[in-house]
Amino acid sequence: MTAFINNDFQDIVLNRKSIRRYDENVKISREEMLTMLDEANRAPSSVNLQPWRYVVVDTNEGKEQLRPFIRFNQLQNDTSAAMILIFGDRKNYEYGKEIYGAALNAGLMPQEVHDRQLATIIPHYQNLSLNEMDNVILRDASLAAMQLMLVARAHGYDTNAIGGFEAENLAETFDLEKERYLPVLILSIGKAAESGYQSVRLSADKLTTFK
Ligand SMILES: Cc1cc2nc3c(=O)[nH]c(=O)nc-3n(C[C@H](O)[C@H](O)[C@H](O)COP(=O)(O)O)c2cc1C
Repeated sequence: MTAFINNDFQDIVLNRKSIRRYDENVKISREEMLTMLDEANRAPSSVNLQPWRYVVVDTNEGKEQLRPFIRFNQLQNDTSAAMILIFGDRKNYEYGKEIYGAALNAGLMPQEVHDRQLATIIPHYQNLSLNEMDNVILRDASLAAMQLMLVARAHGYDTNAIGGFEAENLAETFDLEKERYLPVLILSIGKAAESGYQSVRLSADKLTTFK
């Protein structure tokens, strides 16, 4: 983990805005990108199976391939340091042994919990319907995406969450198996070259009940 260049939680969270135009001269090294993704991956996930997968599109060739998929979001593609395609892995349980085994070896998980997780959770996940699994991975990957947007700000960058894209054929265009990887969200990331629009929020008392 690197030190954040912005460690002001209030600024990171409350001044985050969707940024759609970036300074084209500012690139993000792949090393820093992986650091940010490691930090985003500290997000919680259902039984810690971490079903998010990323394709970081940071080359001109990759962005050309992405162009037809992203409809009215061309400005972000043209100016960002990278477009991060976030997918959910429907076979995330295949990493169960590796994840729980590492926790066991690091002394973070007792043997009996490790054995129980593998014996119960993995088969349960394998037997989920497609719809149930998609709900799980959409929730989990969205949490990682939100964390990544805030991590980006801590590194001095900004983002735009992009749901306006063509999901059909996105996976295989970027060499992922279509049936396995569900497109969840695209994030543009880079150094802001605009301040973004001010936006309003409904007040919490309108959206909340207490019981
Ligand atoms: C799931 C999701 C999908 C979005 N899709 C797009 C998009 O396709 N294009 C775009 O310009 N902004 C997109 N946005 C950004 C929203 O328009 C923006 O978050 C909202 O207007 C609030 O503004 P703020 O992010 O600056 O606070 C999306 C946001 C979310 C959470």
